[in-house]
Amino acid sequence: MIQGRDHVFHRDWRKTLPMIDRGEGVYLYDRQGKRYLDASGGPAVINIGHGVKEVIDSMLEQARKVCFPYVGHFISEAQIELSRKVVEFAPPGMSRVYFVSGGSEATEIALKVARQYHLSKGDPSRVKIIGRWQGYHGATIGALSVSGHTSRRNDYQPYLLNFPHIPPSYCYRCPWDKAYPACGIVCAHELEKVIKQEGQAHVAAFIAEPLVGNSLGAVPPPPEYFPIIREICDRYGILFIADEVITGFGRTGKNFGIDHWKVVPDVIITGKGTGSGYTPLGAVIVHQRVFEAFEKSERPAFFMGYTYSGNPLSCAAGLAVLGYIEKNRLVERSAQMGKYLFERLARLKDLPMVGDIRGKGLLLGIEFVKDKAKKTPFERSRKISETLTDKAFQNGLILMSGAGTADGVSGDHTVVSPPFIITERQIDELAELLEKSIREVYAQVG
Ligand SMILES: Cc1ncc(COP(=O)(O)O)c(C=O)c1O
Repeated sequence: MIQGRDHVFHRDWRKTLPMIDRGEGVYLYDRQGKRYLDASGGPAVINIGHGVKEVIDSMLEQARKVCFPYVGHFISEAQIELSRKVVEFAPPGMSRVYFVSGGSEATEIALKVARQYHLSKGDPSRVKIIGRWQGYHGATIGALSVSGHTSRRNDYQPYLLNFPHIPPSYCYRCPWDKAYPACGIVCAHELEKVIKQEGQAHVAAFIAEPLVGNSLGAVPPPPEYFPIIREICDRYGILFIADEVITGFGRTGKNFGIDHWKVVPDVIITGKGTGSGYTPLGAVIVHQRVFEAFEKSERPAFFMGYTYSGNPLSCAAGLAVLGYIEKNRLVERSAQMGKYLFERLARLKDLPMVGDIRGKGLLLGIEFVKDKAKKTPFERSRKISETLTDKAFQNGLILMSGAGTADGVSGDHTVVSPPFIITERQIDELAELLEKSIREVYAQVG
């Protein structure tokens, strides 16, 4: 089938995509037999690799029994078992899991959990959710409203809710032009300032990614950041929602990204790696103290739900994925291979355009700059990140690149987030293809 003559509403109808044939481990193959190293694991989805037999067998077994009883009519063993497994992975005190079909749905549920929590506590004025610029939490209107990704927000501005945003924690380009540790972690204290400005009585929650993933290029905050955020949220009675859609289930070398800072959120949202691409699956994980507010309240049930929430086929896939991670110690492997990948990518530091390399575990980012000393970003018109993605793809390497890194408009980065099963030899291959692609981009438009 030739694209353009089919009936698919393509995201980019000017582009011709190769027809996928199959996936095996860290590789994807198109119908022409060309092999691609999936260095980004899709958009940080494929945690356990493509084509894992155990997961496919579990899905088949469940499908033979039943694929869909409505969540309002039946509970399934797969859903119960997966909720147990998710809680085992999660930080202490996280106790209830609401299943959804992906990250945007998870964000929407989390916003409503925050609202209902405050209603249950008799605090109806708390409606605002504070997000961060350059962060991303999903494409639906509520999720996009708390997101701070300028180009994704632009066209839909009239629909967006009036939620405040603070700048990200982003040491390479500190929004306050300060340097760690003398900065006093002003980026975290900014939250308190905005809560005061908005009025404590109106703020329901703060949402952040532990490492800002695809929209900023795997940026971790300094060690003090999340403990300060936690303390501020507690002091002002607002919920802390950790968006672990990318960082969840081992991507950063710990079960959850927030575990690096030993902070326990009130709500965690997941997507992508929850089903590792075998099925659309996400989760909203709620702390016991939040759930208790629901339990004690005389309010009727939590009415929010999606038709496919908790369907047994997706839950069986998720259970098999998390079981596979556990059995093969893939969280530890993500940490270990992440170290090797970081060392390998660090060798690219001397290439033209490479300004910064950062991240944790198997979530690493490279930021590209025109002038390394001044950290000047390229003009957007040069389309560095798009050209890199295309060149790499031609070279058989799949990357997730992004723009707007520096200030929401200019700046380019790419994210390297391969499946946890990647080997050292495959990392060498990845680094060689990446170097080749960066050199080609520089020769063409750098
Ligand atoms: C951190 C983060 N949160 C939420 C989402 C939205 O997830 P989905 O695309 O599955 O709706 C994404 C997607 O890229 C994401 O990266």
